[in-house]
Amino acid sequence: MSNDIEVTMQEDRLFEPTFEFIEQAHIKSKGQYDAMYMESIRSPEKFWGDIAEDFTWKKKWDQVINWDDAPVAKWFDGAELNITENCLDRHLETERRTKKALIWEGEPGDTLELTYEQLHDRVCRAAAMLREQGVKKGDRVTIYLPMVPELMISVLACARIGAIHSVIFGGFSSGAILDRVKDAESAVVITADGGWRRGKTLGLKKIVDDAINQTDIVKTCIVVQRAEVDHEMKSGRDIYWNDIYPAEGTAFEAETMKSQDPLFLLYTSGSTGKPKGVQHSTAGYMVGTHTTTKYIFDMKDSDVYWCTADVGWITGHSYLVYGPLLNGATIVMYEGAPNFPDFDRFWDVIEKHKVTIFYTAPTAIRAFMKWGNEHVEKHDISSLRLLGTVGEPINPEAWMWYHEKIGASRCPIVDTWWQTETGAIMITPLPGVTSTRPGCATTPFFGVDAAIVDEKGNEVPDGKGGLLVIRKPWPSMLTNIWGDLDRFKEVYWSRFAEQGYYLAGDGAVKDKNGYITILGRIDDVINVSGHRLSTMELESCLVAHPSVAEAAVVGFEHDLKGEGIAAYVIVNNGFTQSEDDKVILKKFIAGEIGAFARPDQIHFADALPKTRSGKIMRRVLKEIAAGRDIEGDLSTIEDIAALKKLAASAKV
Ligand code: WTA
Repeated sequence: MSNDIEVTMQEDRLFEPTFEFIEQAHIKSKGQYDAMYMESIRSPEKFWGDIAEDFTWKKKWDQVINWDDAPVAKWFDGAELNITENCLDRHLETERRTKKALIWEGEPGDTLELTYEQLHDRVCRAAAMLREQGVKKGDRVTIYLPMVPELMISVLACARIGAIHSVIFGGFSSGAILDRVKDAESAVVITADGGWRRGKTLGLKKIVDDAINQTDIVKTCIVVQRAEVDHEMKSGRDIYWNDIYPAEGTAFEAETMKSQDPLFLLYTSGSTGKPKGVQHSTAGYMVGTHTTTKYIFDMKDSDVYWCTADVGWITGHSYLVYGPLLNGATIVMYEGAPNFPDFDRFWDVIEKHKVTIFYTAPTAIRAFMKWGNEHVEKHDISSLRLLGTVGEPINPEAWMWYHEKIGASRCPIVDTWWQTETGAIMITPLPGVTSTRPGCATTPFFGVDAAIVDEKGNEVPDGKGGLLVIRKPWPSMLTNIWGDLDRFKEVYWSRFAEQGYYLAGDGAVKDKNGYITILGRIDDVINVSGHRLSTMELESCLVAHPSVAEAAVVGFEHDLKGEGIAAYVIVNNGFTQSEDDKVILKKFIAGEIGAFARPDQIHFADALPKTRSGKIMRRVLKEIAAGRDIEGDLSTIEDIAALKKLAASAKV
């Protein structure tokens, strides 16, 4: 497959960190990075063991990394802890007690600020509330909330009592919620009546009801009242947060957890079948998210840090909640859309709260570019000192715009590559060290033994594309797919079982200086505005519609979203192949999965271009979707007339 991984990008502009930045950075020189990196690879026990000394443990570990049951890693094996004592209690003994932990801004303009002491108090109260509802250590709690403070509080309250949280992004539909609730066997759901988005309210409780009314797994549904959206309450099951949340603070003792106890599940798309519950454990995840946040965001006590990701995605888990809290940071959390009430909302938030570190996604940056510089120029955003991106490859043009217009050609940009599965950032510049290159994630973080290999697992020469693998365990790595160890082994570890490499699923290329550029997914996963979607999942969703006989889905280059979704559909009875039918199918997918999965294009086809052996030629479908002429060898296609018809109709 690596033969197919083409390297087209030629980019050689380099940007060095400024002297002012370097001078104050945690890590200041390439020499320092090299020495730390070398130690992290050669003596991981010493490297991570030393770092872990700084945390609060109920019992210290016997072994820093026990890899005997590979690929299930046991980081800090034998230790006991509670991650919330490290996120919260630990800071209460210091000046951080009265420091702002959370600055929350609602879309309509309401705000809430909580110090570490206050956040601790709220988490303890929410933990007491969950315990009162019968939630115990090891139980799964599903959280489907808008970006309100209760989201962060619920996540931490679960961790405090040792319940495993499963946060579902608020854009998912009831079908997706039902799948996840069932897979996790989650008896408790926390949701809200609704949330704010672009000046309108979105009824979340109704979406949850459509899911949980179809199962008797859910015994309790706790409802936060946020947006005054009409909803129903089922007696005996549904209960308002405000009615059960204790009015008074209680010091709630944190449950003792083993290092390997699962902290959370986060469902994500893979190349096959249903979304999988990626499982993260407690201690390794804690040490990994803490250390990456500290060094990659150069986090200091004076910083005001804003990560725009929703807590429903891994970036929100690791870099809106856990990583920054572990560092005692001041976190900005914003509920709504970047263009409400106007296109300058983000810059307004940055100016208002004097944000110093800003972490967002390339798709957002492309939207800002399109909206125009005037919205940025209205605001004083000179408080910024460091920028980050995540979620998809960033095109050099967007990188340059971010660098010049937001970073005033002064702020380092960390282009961070990682995944739900990796738990924490893996490949990234270090802001005080790395000369950055637009579109390039650059070098591996401490402890990350990244390599680019061919199908046999041999490293490819510099400059040649190949498969990105990780050759050694790292602290924040996933430990399982919920309830499916075989699938965990199969998906990530079977391709290079002999060598014991983790297969990331991305193609990449390394240059002679060791800089790694990510080339995108090599499997059937498409990345739409940084959201991972599986083409298989979209296809099975389409064929579940009674009027669809067969479907093929591909991604294609999209100016704003990175990748758009094109669906090719063969209908059976019921559809006349009209524009209305296309709308019906788009709505169907949005209803089954979520609005972000709505296809950009639907093409009705008489036949799909297949090789004589029956394989769909996706390459051809991608070219049609991108509006290009179909080039290359078509001699193996079975029904060339149907293909020509499809290509011609797509051009109309
Ligand atoms: C892609 C998001 C290029 C990649 C944290 C990966 C990136 C998938 C980058 C994981 C980046 C993430 N450059 N591609 N800086 N960051 N990706 O699980 O394809 O939502 O495999 O985790 O996003 O997406 P996920």
